Amino acid sequence: MSTIPATLPGGTWSLGDLTVTRFGYGAMQLAGPGVMGPPADHDGALAVLREAVALGITHIDTADAYGPHITNQLIREALHPYPDALRIVTKVGAFRDEQGGWPPAREPEDLRRAVHHNLDRLGLERLDVVNLRLGDAQGPRPGPVTEAFETLVELRQQGLIRHLGVSNATAEQVAEARAIAPIVCVQNMYNLAHRQDDELIDELAEQGIAYVPFFPLGGFSPLQSSALTAVAARLDATPMSVALAWLLQRSPNILLIPGTSSVAHLRENIAGAGLSLSEEDLAELDRIGR
Ligand SMILES: NC(=O)c1ccc[n+]([C@@H]2O[C@H](COP(=O)([O-])OP(=O)(O)OC[C@H]3O[C@@H](n4cnc5c(N)ncnc54)[C@H](OP(=O)(O)O)[C@@H]3O)[C@@H](O)[C@H]2O)c1
Repeated sequence: MSTIPATLPGGTWSLGDLTVTRFGYGAMQLAGPGVMGPPADHDGALAVLREAVALGITHIDTADAYGPHITNQLIREALHPYPDALRIVTKVGAFRDEQGGWPPAREPEDLRRAVHHNLDRLGLERLDVVNLRLGDAQGPRPGPVTEAFETLVELRQQGLIRHLGVSNATAEQVAEARAIAPIVCVQNMYNLAHRQDDELIDELAEQGIAYVPFFPLGGFSPLQSSALTAVAARLDATPMSVALAWLLQRSPNILLIPGTSSVAHLRENIAGAGLSLSEEDLAELDRIGR
């Protein structure tokens, strides 16, 4: 079994007035195959969530579209009433069709309904952070965000949401949202091999806004690179550990939400993310996504 450090790797970060551990947990993969339906191992899914909190994680990422509804129901079953320090970050802006697709649902009425669904299923009176999910399953798409974002601002003013963020967004959409109201995070796809947001990450770091990479381990297709394998072998670590440690060292505003349906992997990832990468390691890893 992996040795878990007393303090989670990376320390903490502030999402507005909310403190979270930089090592968080992404709940998407707890639903069934293709993020549809219930998990094969219901009790195993509850155990992962409980272990995450027991190990000190205070940031769980979810969405009512996962399952749909399944991960929120699992989070509530495993953890409600929630520990005071736990922050649950959710997202709205897409629903699930019968084929398992993620069509956009960003009309004001869709967003209001989605916020209420998250509140009901998580058993909360106010959501800590809501990300407006933009783009589609292929990635960010240019387009206006004002009407959708203003709808979430209204819901925040009604006391249903504490802080806002955007997800799957272009840099222009991030700027458009920020011109309307403050955001505390941007959640986009980013990892060692997908470096399209390098500039945005640095800009957000200067503004004190978190960048939360989804698919930190490659998502549905695990990260594969000979350079990653070589660095991991040299450090006697797993490629997953190196990928997570690299993200934590990449910028202080990066928060990790790796997903897993396994308690052993969760422990392994926490133990591995604290790995210290040398300048030589970083230079070698840096070339992967360039
Ligand atoms: N905003 C968006 O549009 C968006 C899109 C996608 C995801 N997300 C969020 O981002 C989170 C992270 O993404 P993700 O979970 O899809 O991808 P990920 O964290 O990159 O990778 C998860 C995959 O890695 C495997 N894994 C994890 N630790 C491992 C280990 N130590 N050894 C071997 N395999 C390991 C998991 O399998 P096991 O279950 O077997 O461990 C799972 O298949 C999601 O949970 C979700 O909350 C957001």
